[in-house]
Amino acid sequence: MIKTIGWLESITISGDTLIVGGWVAALTDGTVKNFVNFVVYANGKTVPVAKCTTGLPSPDVKTVYPNLAGTEHCRFILHIPLDKEDTKRLNSSVLLVCPILEGTRGCALGGLTQNSAYPMPSEEDINFIGGGIGVGLEFFDYFMKYCNLQPSDSVLDVGCGIGRMAFPLTAYLSTAGRYEGFDIYDSGITWAKENITPLYPNFNFQKANIFNKLYNPHGRVVSSEFAFPYSDAYFDFVYLTSVFTHMYPDDVRQYLKEISRVIKRGSKCLLTCFLLNTESIKFIQNGNSTLRLVHKINGCFTADKKIPEKAIGFHENDLLKWISEQKLIVAQTLYGSWCGRKDFTSYQDILIIEKPDDASK
Ligand SMILES: C[S@@+](CC[C@H](N)C(=O)[O-])C[C@H]1O[C@@H](n2cnc3c(N)ncnc32)[C@H](O)[C@@H]1O
Repeated sequence: MIKTIGWLESITISGDTLIVGGWVAALTDGTVKNFVNFVVYANGKTVPVAKCTTGLPSPDVKTVYPNLAGTEHCRFILHIPLDKEDTKRLNSSVLLVCPILEGTRGCALGGLTQNSAYPMPSEEDINFIGGGIGVGLEFFDYFMKYCNLQPSDSVLDVGCGIGRMAFPLTAYLSTAGRYEGFDIYDSGITWAKENITPLYPNFNFQKANIFNKLYNPHGRVVSSEFAFPYSDAYFDFVYLTSVFTHMYPDDVRQYLKEISRVIKRGSKCLLTCFLLNTESIKFIQNGNSTLRLVHKINGCFTADKKIPEKAIGFHENDLLKWISEQKLIVAQTLYGSWCGRKDFTSYQDILIIEKPDDASK
């Protein structure tokens, strides 16, 4: 996968043709390359592009990115024939456009048709969760790149919030695929149940009434005793984005146990966290970090003594130990920029963990 930037500028339906306009540029090297191929996902399937015009003038993009090669001719227009059913459904669904450069995927671009009826959560909910659907698109790329997500997968979104990560998945997961999300945040789950499930019946959201000082202060259940409401070995892929960053060690250990139970052998889980190690601790000490995870509480570290759940980090070795206790292995560690690191993948640290085919490993 190559790093790209871009934008979908217009998505219109004219008769039985979907017309998508936008721009895309590669961030990887200084050579001028045009994207001549695109894979487009809508309504849980790949929709074939009949005509693809690339290399169109984009002087406005060049003005914004003067040092990036090729940005003066990086605009594209795609023509996509649609059948009647897809035309109707597209007016309330997400379009995902993935640029392909010499056989390698770039970052997904997402958008909605003009006058789309696709529901959007309130600003208040978006702010409470900590960001909009752009983060969903960023993580969709990681799901594809590091976890080989397939359209027919059964996916579990632990701590799904308002379904920010579900947004691109509604375009990508086929009707054979399944999405399950649960969270403790009442308004987020209520919104997702009322707005996403009616459009996508294979997307299901559930509330768990678990206590968390920040997200559910009146919750009656404790995470450290919570059993996920799914059967054993059900999921092909599990993810938790910015969830362990709000939980205590005993809770995380229970969740890892549950993840190990519900995930199929040979499948992956992506989780984000704040890992304290020699490097990140040094950054914190030097005042470079966006979070001062310096207050030790219950075996973890927080920036806020009053409401520790606002941001919680763990010693990397502790989290690795809890993962291996559940016979899960860490396939990849992708460090984040949260602590001030210059070379990073995302803001939070990301771990890709795997349940080996052979559980004795
Ligand atoms: C920063 S938000 C991220 C939401 C979502 N994962 C996303 O990336 O859009 C943190 C979420 O974790 C949820 N959460 C906190 N503790 C949880 C727990 N024990 N079980 C499930 N979700 C939890 C919160 O309710 C909140 O929705």
